Amino acid sequence: MKHYSGSFNKRSRLLQAPALSESPTGRLKPLQPDTLAEHLDKVLQVQNDFFPCFDWAFPPPLLNRCEPPETAAELFSRPSVEPGYYSLYLHIPFCKTLCSFCYYTVLPGRGIEQSQSYVDYLLKEMALYAPVVRDQWCESVYIGGGTPSYLDEALIARLLEAIRGHFNLIEGAEITMEAAPSTLSRSKVSLLGELGINRLSYGIQTLDEELLATMNRHYRVAEAERELDHALEVIGNVNVDTMYGFDGEPDHALRNTLERFHALGIPSLSIYALDMQRSVKGKSLFGPPRDEQYQRKIRLFTEATEILGGLGYEPVLQNVYLMPGKASYRHQVRRWDNLPLVSLGLSAQGYAPRAAYHNVGAIKPYYQLLDQGKLPIATVDYLTPELELIREVASRLRFTRLDVGAIQRKYGVDLDYVFGDLMKALLTHGYLQRHGDEISMTGKACYYNNIIPMLFAPDAFKEQLMALPEEYLEQYPVPFVMTRAGCTQSAAIDVRLPRAARPSA
Ligand SMILES: C[S@@+](CC[C@H](N)C(=O)[O-])C[C@H]1O[C@@H](n2cnc3c(N)ncnc32)[C@H](O)[C@@H]1O
Ligand code: SF4
Repeated sequence: MKHYSGSFNKRSRLLQAPALSESPTGRLKPLQPDTLAEHLDKVLQVQNDFFPCFDWAFPPPLLNRCEPPETAAELFSRPSVEPGYYSLYLHIPFCKTLCSFCYYTVLPGRGIEQSQSYVDYLLKEMALYAPVVRDQWCESVYIGGGTPSYLDEALIARLLEAIRGHFNLIEGAEITMEAAPSTLSRSKVSLLGELGINRLSYGIQTLDEELLATMNRHYRVAEAERELDHALEVIGNVNVDTMYGFDGEPDHALRNTLERFHALGIPSLSIYALDMQRSVKGKSLFGPPRDEQYQRKIRLFTEATEILGGLGYEPVLQNVYLMPGKASYRHQVRRWDNLPLVSLGLSAQGYAPRAAYHNVGAIKPYYQLLDQGKLPIATVDYLTPELELIREVASRLRFTRLDVGAIQRKYGVDLDYVFGDLMKALLTHGYLQRHGDEISMTGKACYYNNIIPMLFAPDAFKEQLMALPEEYLEQYPVPFVMTRAGCTQSAAIDVRLPRAARPSA
């Protein structure tokens, strides 16, 4: 067995790849349908050490690293596959403390002192986008972070007023705010309700007091439960984030936490596997590159899905479970439809039609660019029509399910024709399941949940990955196996051609 990690990336999620005879020089070679199943056997011996965490995107961010466009009009100049609609994200980076595990862009502690000016700049950024989406409907708003509920009440009110002033919110638009315990007084929750915030996503992580004490979060379980109770009463549609996979975490912690939240009447639960790979640089959590908790995380995830199913929750995304009829999470589900996402704030990741963009991550350039009247975008990744289609295919497979008929109607592409061999091999291996037009990954596929969707990537895209510079991989590790998987596409995709114009299969 050859060990590739040295030449790839020390922090890659995939450290060992089987010695594939194909592509010794790093070039892709077409795979024949009759050898595909055998080849997959080899490829899928490799685990993706990143299970199952939500924070993952296709294509991996900013592959092309293009210069940002001059204006929002230019950014939004390509045709949308969801014309007339978009959603909105705002990043609020302030937190009371920096949690020991967190990988988000946050300004903890005294950072909150600049919340007033930060909101001023968010409003400037809103003004740049507002004219471009003036004639479209905003379906959902997600105010995330960080901990937006840490903002004081006057600022929250100002933010909501500005959102409504700049963007056309569709009637009944889902408006989510993220929150953390000890930032939600009763009066603040009441204000959120009055301002029309109709979904709260509350990060509680665990109800195990001892485990909580290791997280640098500085509150007690009882306080979190008290706040939660009031939030449920006022907002109703409340999601709670839970986490698992910590060193020293008792095996029963996740089970007890989920059962307790059910008993408290929480209608929506997210379960996050601790992702150590992108934790704060230099923290001891980095540990050895290979995740020693990997097998355990998969076991805990599998148990959690059984517990949640038994309690009556249904998955809306791979790691988000809803009590039917009592909760919604439209914002994230619609993201995988390639709905444009206007994203504002530090390090926010947005999606203009066929252009995935990423805002700068440091506060100074963020302010400077806006002072110059420019979009605070660091880089843009322009997608071809084919890559946009695959963005939906891969993301849907990764997070929810794929409807072959819906894709055909939306993009004019018959996935059965284009990916027939690949899908057949994955179905035969038991990694995919199919009911009519609907395709999803099976429980067995959870070991490869980053790899399998990537197999649907265009060959040209896989080729590009081979040439990625080390510094890119440091920042955005991609599954190694993707670069060694060869050409698994059965047929070239031309999204401009209606089905009838293609040769028959
Ligand atoms: C942006 S945070 C917002 C919630 C709020 N700030 C809090 O922590 O209570 C969203 C969620 O990401 C999850 N998260 C943060 N760091 C993570 C990591 N290293 N691995 C996996 N999930 C993580 C946590 O469950 C957290 O609640
Ligand atoms: S987990 Fe939440 S509260 Fe903790 S640092 Fe990250 S964003 Fe802030």
